[in-house]
Amino acid sequence: MSLQSLIEGWEGETVVVRHDRLCGAWILIAIHSTRLGPAGGGTRMRPYPDVETALRDACHLAESMTAKFALADFPMGGGKSVIMVPGKLDAGAREELLRRYGRLIHQLGGLFYTGPDIGTSPEDMDVVSETGTPYVFARTERAGGSGGSAAPTARGVYWCIRATLEHLFGDDQLGGQHVAVQGAGGVGSLLIRRLVEEGVRVTAADRDPEALAALEELAGVRTVSPEAIYGVVCDVFSPCATGGVLNARTIPRLRCRAVVGAANNQLATPEDALRLREAGILYAPDYAVNAGGAIAVVGIEAKGWTREQAEDRVRRMAHTLRELYHLAEARGITTEEAARRAVQARLAAARAPD
Ligand code: NAI
Ligand code: PHE
Repeated sequence: MSLQSLIEGWEGETVVVRHDRLCGAWILIAIHSTRLGPAGGGTRMRPYPDVETALRDACHLAESMTAKFALADFPMGGGKSVIMVPGKLDAGAREELLRRYGRLIHQLGGLFYTGPDIGTSPEDMDVVSETGTPYVFARTERAGGSGGSAAPTARGVYWCIRATLEHLFGDDQLGGQHVAVQGAGGVGSLLIRRLVEEGVRVTAADRDPEALAALEELAGVRTVSPEAIYGVVCDVFSPCATGGVLNARTIPRLRCRAVVGAANNQLATPEDALRLREAGILYAPDYAVNAGGAIAVVGIEAKGWTREQAEDRVRRMAHTLRELYHLAEARGITTEEAARRAVQARLAAARAPD
């Protein structure tokens, strides 16, 4: 599909496309909806096979940001930025690219606020903000930000796992359950630590041996290969790596009671929500589970919340998830459909932008 047909066929509001001639990168900013407020979303930096694939990812991720903020009843819209790099850039070239990116964000005048995502860090957000743009969240504490979003995201996943166990077994107390975590990066590693601290058995997989090596000191963690993680017999499978991992190939292999994880866009296609339900697996919609980071960071930095207030909002996500589970059961629909309806209702109730 060409860039033109992708943009024409997308239901979002705005797409900004910049080819960075100096290093060959493409900057693609997808603004899905500003109905609830200015668009917010992370910056994903990685190579892609082509610009069309990168733009499709940006658009899909921006839609999830709209859903994430709407479901959490947070006054922000959804956007996402993808920087498609030609390969690994050296440190100097990368920093210069981030500065040019910061100037572009600034030119958008507050239409889009960004933060870190896969391939970018709070330190990178410091560089973006050094251009003078205020439209950036999750800088390091040293630079005056609230720090990264991984920790509150991991805490949100943790509370959602407990709410899911309560829904399935009538008790949310941890101890003795088994969770399979795919991806032991920023979010996954913190989640794993919290779970083992509370007596949960964890099986983890990561394609990066260094990420797994960092878990070696933890008792109660077993590691398996990236392919084997799907077949682990467990209570909860927690995707914390990348998108599209729940699909026609992987779902029949799952041996869990529920899926609750941080990765954005876990379902490869909308039909996969049905496939999970037919397999008897309770699916916690990803954007209901992984909103903790964005909400806590934006709340602290833009709304002056204390860390306690932010934590309170992160915990509240588990309550919303419980409601979605009940709604799905009562209506005989998938949990994904229940979440989608809740998002549509929030958006419909908000005034359309002028
Ligand atoms: P990260 O990049 O720090 O960690 C991801 C880990 O997954 C890496 O260690 C990587 O080696 C591993 N990985 C990638 N593909 C894999 C595969 N096929 N099998 C096994 N391991 C694989 O990213 P982070 O920040 O931990 O985020 C994890 C996921 O959660 C991402 O999808 C991200 O978009 C999403 N997310 C993150 C938020 C945050 O605040 N950091 C907020 C909301 C969503
Ligand atoms: N990676 C975050 C997410 O997907 C994006 C984000 C981080 C947005 C921090 C705002 C602030 O939710």
